[in-house]
Amino acid sequence: MMLIAPSLLSCDFSVMGEEIERMDKSGADYMHLDVMDGHFVPNITFGAPVIKTVRKYTEKPFDVHLMISEPLKYIEDFANAGADIITFHIESDSDVQETIDKIKACGKKPGLVIKPNTKAEEVFPYLKDLFMVLVMTVEPGFGGQSFMADMLPKVKEIREEANKVNPELLIEVDGGIGEATIKQAYDAGVDVCVAGTAVFKADSATEAINNLKALCK
Ligand code: DX5
Ligand code: ZN
Repeated sequence: MMLIAPSLLSCDFSVMGEEIERMDKSGADYMHLDVMDGHFVPNITFGAPVIKTVRKYTEKPFDVHLMISEPLKYIEDFANAGADIITFHIESDSDVQETIDKIKACGKKPGLVIKPNTKAEEVFPYLKDLFMVLVMTVEPGFGGQSFMADMLPKVKEIREEANKVNPELLIEVDGGIGEATIKQAYDAGVDVCVAGTAVFKADSATEAINNLKALCK
């Protein structure tokens, strides 16, 4: 079954806790939290203190997507704030293996993200140590962009390689997922879809999530 992770980037930030509660009741599997530092990506969102204050609104896993230049420096902060899955970019300035090890040492699940211009094989050396790989289907930084279907062959490559070394690995895609695109992601072997606009701009988040899941068969 396809898991759906609503991206809080598209929520009403003045009532972020209630938005998380609403997503919980609407059938979200994970809460996707986009952390941007205005340096790694040209946008700024929120950090660990904000995540900590909204942690109490759901028991569902917090899937924290770090779009920051030096993730290693802040792993402990995000772990203490209540992140469950901590996903960082391979293109960041931190040492990849050291950052994975740090996430694990904090008792959290490590995820590695690749931007559209990064090849699938870059993540191969780390697959055995990862909980998840996130393949960006837009350039990171903003919600509401168009899905890049040409990223899907990377999902297939990663799935094939992971089947040899870590069959439990989850593959997530992020950006432009909606009713018109989710089936392609499912067919490529994606396990988790992030969806911002498609869920938050819908009249009913419950219906939106149900519809997205129903398309995955
Ligand atoms: C983009 C973020 C995404 C974004 C997705 O940098 O990582 O999580 O919010 O938004 P939609 O689903 O609207 O493309
Ligand atoms: Zn994201």
